[in-house]
Amino acid sequence: PHVHATLVRGRILHFFADPGEDSDPASWQYIEDGALLIDGGVVRDCGEWDKVLAALPQHTRHTARLIDHRGKLIVPGFVDTHVHYPQMRVLGSYGRQLLDWLNDYTFPAEASFADPAVAERTAKFFVDRLLAHGTTTASVYATVHAHSVDAFFSAAEAKRLRMLCGKVMMDRHCPDNLRDTADSSARDCSALIERWHGKGRLRYCVTPRFAITSTPAQLQVAGELYASRPDLHVQSHLSENLAEIAFVRELFPDSAHYLDVYDRFGLLGPRAIYGHGIHLSDAELARLAASQTTIAFCPTSNRFLGSGHFDYRRTAAAGVSVGLASDVGGGTSLSMLRTMGAGYEVSQMLQAPTPVMRSWYGATLGGAQALGLEGFIGNFAIGKEADFVVLDTQAIPELAFRVAHANALTEQLFALMVLGDERCVAATWVLGEPAYQAGAVA
Ligand code: GUN
Ligand code: ZN
Repeated sequence: PHVHATLVRGRILHFFADPGEDSDPASWQYIEDGALLIDGGVVRDCGEWDKVLAALPQHTRHTARLIDHRGKLIVPGFVDTHVHYPQMRVLGSYGRQLLDWLNDYTFPAEASFADPAVAERTAKFFVDRLLAHGTTTASVYATVHAHSVDAFFSAAEAKRLRMLCGKVMMDRHCPDNLRDTADSSARDCSALIERWHGKGRLRYCVTPRFAITSTPAQLQVAGELYASRPDLHVQSHLSENLAEIAFVRELFPDSAHYLDVYDRFGLLGPRAIYGHGIHLSDAELARLAASQTTIAFCPTSNRFLGSGHFDYRRTAAAGVSVGLASDVGGGTSLSMLRTMGAGYEVSQMLQAPTPVMRSWYGATLGGAQALGLEGFIGNFAIGKEADFVVLDTQAIPELAFRVAHANALTEQLFALMVLGDERCVAATWVLGEPAYQAGAVA
């Protein structure tokens, strides 16, 4: 049924730019008694409740649907810039670092996706859980099987979500039952791009797993695909683990450094995002910045797999755009609140605590920018798609108790990202319609 307009009332926080290390107050807007006016699935106005109401034509004021979330915090839907949906079943697997973890846990899990029914079931579960965590956009790895992308995009399309996904390309150093070839991956990716790229809110992301599992011939294919159509995205992994880096150096002795492997195949540029980037040289950071290639910071994963401490301050200062990411199943939670909290703890290990506002930016507009999707999502600028999450600090007793003793906004926001998780998600809205409500029967 067509509803004329929707007015959402609550405490609104969103960003216009990276607040940086100095927390530039011009980079965000916070409205204690705020209104979000939505029509046709997009933001029509955002501001003080009184002012938005006063600016409304009489007719709209009378016909609008009113959604009262007073006391709760309304932020743009969270953006998870790097996550593997087939890895839902390896969450919390003990005792391995990256390369062994892939062999012992991850590859067997991904092999089970040879069965399309497994892919469909997992994709539906994953999309439902993303919404329950307040995440409305993600850059998602499928498996090597083309039908795993169909399963994911179908599930995302059913919820009208803006999503990126790609078939993992890997033609070496992996089990036979997960191996494609340069040629078969070219054919599969082309067909998937035809089928899904630009369909509604979906976009294809060319996804060579990482330098270890692709031959030069396959990386060549990936670079050609990226160049073949405007608005295609790229995702892969970069400089996560020391053993991985040593292996890449062995496999590509002619490359100046890890990033250079991807560079030589035309895999850097706008809409290209690389997970991790923990152990990068200044030269690599400079090249990332110059090419507008971005990094997905995956703090729960980096801690869980013992990969190292990503230096957010240093990376951002080099001019590299950084998005936050869960990296499930290397990461331990789909919650971007938990991810922000973990990111803060990592920054503390480096004696460089990330400012509160920068963390919230990173989970919203920062993620949208890192994925090249800021024209559509990331804040409540007029015309943006109306995806948002409603957060309740009263949902967890310890958090509620803490917030009762926190006066400043930044103190409350900090407590929410350190103590909060998906229990704080009261509702998630997609294109101006409710897509998840806490306590509702699914
Ligand atoms: N590097 C290559 N593949 C993967 C993966 O699935 N997870 C993580 N964390 N790193 C990777
Ligand atoms: Zn990953």
